[in-house]
Amino acid sequence: MVNLELSVSTGHPELIAAIASEIAASGPIPFVRFMELALYHPQFGYYMRSTLPAHERIGWQGDFYTSSDVHPILGQALATQAEQMYRLLGQPHPFTIVEMGPGKGLLAKHILATCAHRYRSFFQHLRYVLIDRSPAMREVQRRNLAPWLDRPDLLAWADDLPNVAAQHLTGVFFSNELVDSFPVHRVQVTAEGIKELWVDYRDGRFIERLRPLSSDALTDHLDRLSPEWPEGYRTEINLQAQDWMKQVAQHLDRGFVLTIDYGHTAQDLYRSDRKNGTFLCYSQQSVNEDPFLRVGDQDMTAHVDFSCLAATGEEQALRTTGFTNQMSFLMGLGVEQLIAELEQDSPAFNAAIHLLRPNGMGTTFKVLIQHKGIVCPELDGLQYKPFFSSALTTQSAA
Ligand SMILES: C[S@@+](CC[C@H](N)C(=O)[O-])C[C@H]1O[C@@H](n2cnc3c(N)ncnc32)[C@H](O)[C@@H]1O
Repeated sequence: MVNLELSVSTGHPELIAAIASEIAASGPIPFVRFMELALYHPQFGYYMRSTLPAHERIGWQGDFYTSSDVHPILGQALATQAEQMYRLLGQPHPFTIVEMGPGKGLLAKHILATCAHRYRSFFQHLRYVLIDRSPAMREVQRRNLAPWLDRPDLLAWADDLPNVAAQHLTGVFFSNELVDSFPVHRVQVTAEGIKELWVDYRDGRFIERLRPLSSDALTDHLDRLSPEWPEGYRTEINLQAQDWMKQVAQHLDRGFVLTIDYGHTAQDLYRSDRKNGTFLCYSQQSVNEDPFLRVGDQDMTAHVDFSCLAATGEEQALRTTGFTNQMSFLMGLGVEQLIAELEQDSPAFNAAIHLLRPNGMGTTFKVLIQHKGIVCPELDGLQYKPFFSSALTTQSAA
């Protein structure tokens, strides 16, 4: 465990000055606000700057990599799943894929290439919308998707859902590693009850302070969880995930929401032996627990509460189609045939297998699918269910 009190705060100087001046003006800020500024400050935030020193954020040379950096197989499988959804919905025109938080746009690139070559009829009806709050990431996406810009009406970009979807959409809302990048509240159990972590700034250092909960929404959420955590227990609450799920549900007329991320059911995420939570920072392919180091120069994440996403969806007329892990999802979509075409033990073969590993990305990453305006759809990606069907019916889902 890092002793945060002794850490000297390092990072992007203008960002540190901006956060420090907000604290100087109004006092300590909840951690969720610190994380919002560190990642998404309009000028200096980690994801928002157009140039980062010497390295990219996402990729083998960056701070962390995602599935699409490993192998196109996830994008290929998603194209197969989207094409089946299109058929189940009666082949609507247009069928819209809305990808939220596309990062570098590599998954979109892999999905579009697969649709264009393997699912030509579907491709004629496809519209692909990329929503990313970062102008810098949208620029990288445009570069990576340049070959597809020629087809009119295929691609569209926006910084936020309401800015692209005035009307309701038919299709699928899809995201990979979006929800884990939302700023989180951090809480800790003390002898006086559950307190929230706030951030103060003194003598050139950010410092944690334990203070009362910062909002009624957080209090209500903790009440619903009614946890039995021991003193000293620390964890994260992602309220933005609920707002996001509500927004997505409201913009979907008929279709699906497919969310891939690392995470757990609430029962697992908030079990009492997980006493330090799941908050982590990523820098140059290594992890640390200190958000006050490399402020604005490192990513921050926390694992996702899938029970909460499912329950929030249910409140908004989104039925839970199923919950599985990435390995089972890929197997259900026939990736073994794709892998069989690769030369055994070649770099491409090993990369594809990496996404399926039972002790790695294959099970750490979960897939939640929800639906609306269609009755009990049976999806190939959900053929193999490693969890009991009641896995998402937990305290937070009640
Ligand atoms: C960890 S990256 C995801 C990478 C990408 N999906 C992949 O598979 O490689 C998170 C992305 O989500 C974007 N993002 C974060 N919050 C967002 C929001 N509320 N709406 C849209 N995009 C968001 C970030 O700018 C960033 O591009």
